Order: sequence, then structure tokens, then C-alpha cells
Amino acid sequence: MKSHILLSSPVLFLAFFLQAMSLAHGHYSDQHWYEPREQHVLSAPENARPMPSLIIDTFQNPTHNDLGFWHGAGEDLAMQYQPGSMQLFPTDPDQNYHTQFETNGCFSMIPWRNQFLHVEFVGTDQFTVSLNEHNEDCYPHRAPFPGVPDSIEASRYMMKMGHGSTGHDGDGHEHDEPIREEHGKKQISKDNGGGDEDDQTPAAPPKKELFIPLSHFLINQNRVVSVSFSGFYTNRSITLHRVEIVSSVPPPRKENNYFKIPEKLPTGELILRCTRPKSFAFGIDDGSPRFAQEVMRILDEENVRVTFFAVGAGLRDTTTNLTRFYREMLKKGHQVALHSNTHPKMEALPTIDKIDNEIIQAQRTLKEQLGIESSYFRPPFGTVGARMRQQIAKYIPNAYIVNWSVDVEDWLWADSSTPEKQLDAFYRSVARGGNLAVMHFLNPTTVGYLRQFIRHVKGSGFKIMRIDQCMEDPDSPPLS
Ligand SMILES: *[C@@H]1O[C@H](CO)[C@@H](O)[C@H](O)[C@H]1NC(C)=O
Ligand SMILES: *[C@@H]1O[C@H](CO)[C@@H](O)[C@H](O)[C@H]1NC(C)=O
Ligand SMILES: *[C@@H]1O[C@H](CO)[C@@H](O)[C@H](O)[C@H]1NC(C)=O
Ligand SMILES: [Zn+2]
Repeated sequence: MKSHILLSSPVLFLAFFLQAMSLAHGHYSDQHWYEPREQHVLSAPENARPMPSLIIDTFQNPTHNDLGFWHGAGEDLAMQYQPGSMQLFPTDPDQNYHTQFETNGCFSMIPWRNQFLHVEFVGTDQFTVSLNEHNEDCYPHRAPFPGVPDSIEASRYMMKMGHGSTGHDGDGHEHDEPIREEHGKKQISKDNGGGDEDDQTPAAPPKKELFIPLSHFLINQNRVVSVSFSGFYTNRSITLHRVEIVSSVPPPRKENNYFKIPEKLPTGELILRCTRPKSFAFGIDDGSPRFAQEVMRILDEENVRVTFFAVGAGLRDTTTNLTRFYREMLKKGHQVALHSNTHPKMEALPTIDKIDNEIIQAQRTLKEQLGIESSYFRPPFGTVGARMRQQIAKYIPNAYIVNWSVDVEDWLWADSSTPEKQLDAFYRSVARGGNLAVMHFLNPTTVGYLRQFIRHVKGSGFKIMRIDQCMEDPDSPPLS
């Protein structure tokens, strides 16, 4: 365990920071280079905060952070800004809030890679923190953008202050916030958790802190684009006050319940793109038996292999003949893979047991109905979070969690008066460099465009194959 040290003056800190920067641009070898020498340190006074080595965001501005880059929400996340804080009112795990290191390029985290992400906030700790990798071109108009994140379960990294707490058991259940439980009621109010309208109430709730070693984010740290907060599995709000990188963490003490950085848990690998050059893959989810024959005919005639993600409950439903369809597709050389048991947003599930059950039942059904095992899993709705990725890693050896970089947006346009927008969406994603598609066979318009999708990809010089093949998985069958 490293000793806890703080620098004694801003001047020394600046000198140290510059040294860190120059080291970063030169060679990099000493793991502990950021620790100043002994004569430069004071022992940490009580309540001292760790010295920031990079302040990312203190919410001084509604639209940009302290680095001058954008911060803001994705999806329809309700927010309320006040100078010095941003309150988020999540209702869904797909909602997210990003604060960027860079907008049009990649940021290198290497100088800080042995340091810690430090977040100060008030409110729920039931969310995911991600460090997001940029795409290979470091260009936001290439798909996917953002690229791949690694997902950390916030509650495991909380420094729990105060007395009477039972310590950091990591089960994520908080009980110390005055924020009331909502019961499906609209909760976008000025209420900051029990206080009055203005937030100068004397009894402001204490700030919470989390510390995550940057080394726990398994991404390419030369290509970082943002820190984000997502994967909410509660509707309680969170108010962000400070996001920064610090060089050390407070030592374990009674007051912080002997805070200790937890072990990094494996997170199932998330993929958005095929790796094999000039490859392209279709991941086809769910599906209605009504369209199964037509899908089969088109794939036969076009002579392409795809990957089907099948829901466990659908396979067990004896009123459809989907199982028969998937067996036939397997015989024809297609891949069939996991898509949960009952198709919930898995990260939204309140307990780990429920997440586990979705995985275990899906595996059992694939085995029983089709006689196969798969390490490929597509999360329902593309909803991804730390808990779900951890449980996938636990139950599926060498898992691939398959998101996508091409979306035909059938969920948006298939039933609309402009179904041809599915073609536009497909062409646009392919033009941006996407090569791993998501679609469903639930709607006649989508199935009607399948042949055009395939011909467009072939015409662009790609070879269409199963996802395991396009990922160059050594266990995949040889290309035909
Ligand atoms: C959160 O709110 C949404 C939308 O109001 C609701 O659908 C969802 O069930 C709520 N989730 C929880 C955990 O209360
Ligand atoms: C499934 O059932 C439908 C209608 O019930 C039938 O047309 C189709 O041929 C069946 N498909 C397979 C693969 O058995
Ligand atoms: C996965 O895809 C969904 C749908 O496009 C998107 O909302 C989500 O951000 C993606 N997840 C990641 C981690 O890229
Ligand atoms: Zn689905």
C-alpha cells in the first residue's frame, strides 16, 4: 500500500505537474513517478483533500467543463444546473452524462495512468462510471462515437464517511441520503433531496466521494474522450460537484471506514465493430415467426451467414416454431447466440440475482433447445452497465458483449409512415465506418429491405460473415 502524501504548496505542485507532463512525453517507466520525494511532503492533515493533478469539471458553466470542453446529457436525461453543480434525474440506465477531455481529438491519459478518478457528489451511488475510448480515427463523425467504454460500478468505490456505517460492503445500498424514494411519480423538482427550494438549507447533505484507479478502466488510454455517468438502476437523483484526477487516495482511517480501493472485477468485453479487415456482420435479434421463412430465403439466395440473437423465453414458447427456425439456421452455418431470457434492460434490474437469472436461463435454454453454448451476448436494447458486464464476465468465459456500429433504426422507422428511413440510417452508418449491424425481423418493412442492405454492403467491397468470424475468434468456423 502506497503511503498517503500530499504536496506542501501550490508551487511545488505545479513543478511536479510540469515534471509529470515532461515525463509523459518522454519515456515512461517508473510506476511511482508521481510521488514527490519525502522532503516535499507534509503528512495529511485531517480532512485534507487529495491534491488534484487534473481538474476536469467543477460545474462552473452549464455547457462546458473546466477543461473548456463540452459536458452534457445523452438520451432524455433531465438535469438541473446551478453554478458549482449539476443535478441529474435519471429514470433509465441508458441515460448518460458526459464530461469530455477533448471534442475533436483523442486525449492521452498516460501521464495520469497510475492516478485516480475522484468524483464528489450528493445522492445515489447506484450507477456506472465509464471512461470512454474514442474511435480509431479520433474523429467524432466516424462510427462508433464514442467508442468502447469500460464500466465501473460506482458503489464499490465509494469512500464511506462517518460513523454508524457498516463499512464498504459494496452492495450498493445506501440509506444515508435524505432523498426520498420515488414511486413512479414525476420527480423533477427543485428539491435537492429534502431541502427547501433554495439550496442554502443549513443541513445540506454531506458530499460523497469515490476514487477509481484509472488503471481499472481497461480501454486504450491514448484515446480517451470523456468520463461518463450512466447505468442508473434507481430513480433517485445525483448531484455532481467535482470530477478530477488525483495522485493519491486518503489513507484508511476510522472516519472513512478504513477505505480501501476494491479489486478490479472483470467486465465482459464490449464490441461495437468487427476487427477483420473488410468484414461486415449482421446481428439479427428477436424475430417474429411470421418473417422467418422470408429471412431464410433472402440469406440463402444472397449466400451470406449472419448471427442471430435469440431470447430464451421465445425459444421455449411452443406456440411458435422459432426453435425449429434457429435449428435450421444453425444447420445452414449461421451463428445463434444469447439475448437474455426475458429481454429486460438488464442493468435496470434491481438485484444481481435477477441479472444472473437472465444469463443463466438464457444459457440453459440455448443448450436445451438448440444444443449449443455461446459466448456471444447481445444486451437487450443495447443497454450496458457495470453490473451487467460483471455478471456476464462471471458466467460466460471470454464473453463478447455485442453492441453495434450500424443501426438500421427499425425500432424508430419500421412502423412509421417513412419506413425508407431505415435504408438512410443503414447507408449513413456504413458511410461513417460502421461494420457491425443491429436489426430485427419483426416488421415487414425491415425484412423487405434486408436484401438491399446486403447488396449495399457487398457493393461497398465488404465480405459478410458471422460475428464470431468477423471478430477473428479462433473458435469460429472457417470462412466459406
Ligand atoms: C423510474 O422511472 C421510470 C419512468 O418514470 C419508470 O418507468 C421506472 O420503473 C422507474 N424505475 C424505478 C427503479 O423506480
Ligand atoms: C413455421 O410455421 C409456419 C406457419 O405456422 C410455416 O409456414 C413455416 O414453414 C414453419 N417454419 C419452419 C422452419 O418450420
Ligand atoms: C450500445 O448501443 C446503444 C444503442 O445504440 C447505445 O445507446 C449505447 O450507448 C451503446 N453502448 C455502448 C457502451 O457503446
Ligand atoms: Zn432484442
